[in-house]
Amino acid sequence: MKGVVLHGGSGTRLRPFTFIGPKQLMPIANKPVSEYVVRDLVACDIKEIAIILGGTHPERVKNHYRDGSSYGVKITYIDQGEPLGIAHAVGLSRDFVDGDKFVVYLGDNMIQNGIKPYLERFIANDYDAMVLLKEVADPKQFGVAELDDKGKLIRLVEKPEDPPSNYALTGIYFFTPVIFKAIGQLRPSWRGELEITDAIQKLIDWGFNVGYEFVKGWWVDTGKKDDILQVNALVLDERGRREIRGETLNSLVEGRVEIAEDTKIINSTIRGPAIIGSGCVIENSYIGPYTSIWDNTTVINSSVEYCVIMKNVVIRNVERLEESLIGNYTRVETRYSNRRALKLQVGDYSEVLL
Ligand code: TTP
Repeated sequence: MKGVVLHGGSGTRLRPFTFIGPKQLMPIANKPVSEYVVRDLVACDIKEIAIILGGTHPERVKNHYRDGSSYGVKITYIDQGEPLGIAHAVGLSRDFVDGDKFVVYLGDNMIQNGIKPYLERFIANDYDAMVLLKEVADPKQFGVAELDDKGKLIRLVEKPEDPPSNYALTGIYFFTPVIFKAIGQLRPSWRGELEITDAIQKLIDWGFNVGYEFVKGWWVDTGKKDDILQVNALVLDERGRREIRGETLNSLVEGRVEIAEDTKIINSTIRGPAIIGSGCVIENSYIGPYTSIWDNTTVINSSVEYCVIMKNVVIRNVERLEESLIGNYTRVETRYSNRRALKLQVGDYSEVLL
């Protein structure tokens, strides 16, 4: 069994963050989302993973994972170049897969409790392919599965106007090499991509044994800001850890809070679940539940809640910052003066809600 992690795509919905790196490196509880994916595959005893690279600055992915040895796995990198679709990316892994069964995991997807039980079902049932489904309120934005009255999977449609069910296709697929034959026969869809739904549909049409399982627990596709905040909250909630390595002075630290080394908390209140990385200073501030603050960030005279704050950020004199995603080397500050002027230096595709 091998693993294939998709780490490309355009990531337009996560601009401006995706100008400086792939969206799969966005942090969830101070760890790139694709690291949860890699660790989930390793937890399934998978020893070889291919990471399909694309998007901006793919070298950042190689710098992060290197040869995989620190994760207990051998990592091979494959360049996709242009984002020509998920099926195109999967097709590039043919030599790597080399006749084995394999799991394709979109590098920005997370599911509760990992994929191991589903992988076991795939093997036990000897399926030619298997997909994971999740019931959602608005299926129009996903690939959607149609089941017949006996519960057999009969059709998959990509982002349908008129969805045949509420069963969305998650970004985790279990394949045998027969999928490469189907991918070889695909033509680009109306959006110019080779669609994995079309490839799986071919297997169904050719009479292969295509199974499915419903995801028990949550599934999040972290394609947009709100998804990242949501999954960050879910992960912080489940970590259930209290570990204070930094220094706290005249401060109140309540509940499940992780504070890394070389961080100082001064005259502040931290209310978990929350995580604060190393080299941070939190002074005269309140850090509320569901907040992740990465390394070397300073928060002074401010209140921050339900936020993901990345590295080397400065937040100063901000009365209440919430539901925000703040990128590396950003400064958010109010300066008290009589003039009610805003002074901004904001890059392309940013969002400032005042
Ligand atoms: P999407 O989120 O559907 O597409 P995208 O990355 O282009 O994002 P946006 O719509 O915001 O522009 O992609 C799903 C996943 O598959 C994601 O992890 C990126 C990955 N992917 C590739 O690796 N190669 C590709 O060619 C495509 C289309 C996606």
